[in-house]
Amino acid sequence: MTNHWTPPSHRRPKLDLAALGIPAGRYILPDPTDFLLTPEGTNEGAARIHDYLNRKTGHDTLQPAELDFVRQHFLNAAEEQRQRAITHFESKVPRRYISARPTDLATAWAHTVTTTPETTRSLLIIGPTGTGKTHYAYSVLRALAETGAALKWAAYTAADLYAQLRPRTGRDSEATFEQIVGADVLFVDDLAAAKLTEWTEEVTYRLINHRYEQCKPGIFTSNVPPAQLRDALGERIASRLTEMCERVALKGDDRRKGMAA
Ligand SMILES: Nc1ncnc2c1ncn2[C@@H]1O[C@H](COP(=O)(O)OP(=O)(O)O)[C@@H](O)[C@H]1O
Ligand SMILES: [Mg+2]
Repeated sequence: MTNHWTPPSHRRPKLDLAALGIPAGRYILPDPTDFLLTPEGTNEGAARIHDYLNRKTGHDTLQPAELDFVRQHFLNAAEEQRQRAITHFESKVPRRYISARPTDLATAWAHTVTTTPETTRSLLIIGPTGTGKTHYAYSVLRALAETGAALKWAAYTAADLYAQLRPRTGRDSEATFEQIVGADVLFVDDLAAAKLTEWTEEVTYRLINHRYEQCKPGIFTSNVPPAQLRDALGERIASRLTEMCERVALKGDDRRKGMAA
């Protein structure tokens, strides 16, 4: 007897898809009877696949053709999930940044988010106006979509965030806050672009502190030089950002200068 209650969904071990080389995700299971339609398909094979999918046996009980059948199904499902993630990203990214492509570093960061989100340091992208911070951030979100991982991301400029969270009658701004901070990856653009008021400082603090405590990765940008971050954001926010973020410093001229509108 045990005095611990285990929810039904936890009683059966999950399929170890990583062992098959399949990225994490929630996939529809294959129909074992479809195996009969393949050249090597047999009744016994379909039965073994059925037992594997019902977690009665491990994948090591499957014959090579059966394993191929299962793996191919999940590879197709993972590719569909990846295409959906990219389509979703392209429907959300502001048009200006739709062609932003990730650097190898940005891609590597996205991969660590999918494998070890709680130990991945957030990104703090710093640089003067027009050096490509927002472009860089969206390229990272594209890299994340391209991994195909089922991760929820959200993107806001700090100004839009404050507008969303400002108390208004008939609106539960606390519920909005919970929804925003709950994203797997949160991108907040242009921190400290405007001088913080007591209220915006408090909101920013709660937001950053929540992400900090939950060890959830984020992407933040600011055009405030590192040495002035404490003055611009206040000690509590700046010290958390410094601890939780890897810094990406963008340099160069304002790319907007000389650009056709
Ligand atoms: N690596 C890049 N390649 C091509 N265009 C870029 C690149 N980085 C930025 N841009 C373009 O330069 C302009 C300014 O970039 P943006 O990211 O908006 O700057 P910031 O956020 O630093 O003010 C935008 O039109 C953007 O699309
Ligand atoms: Mg910007």
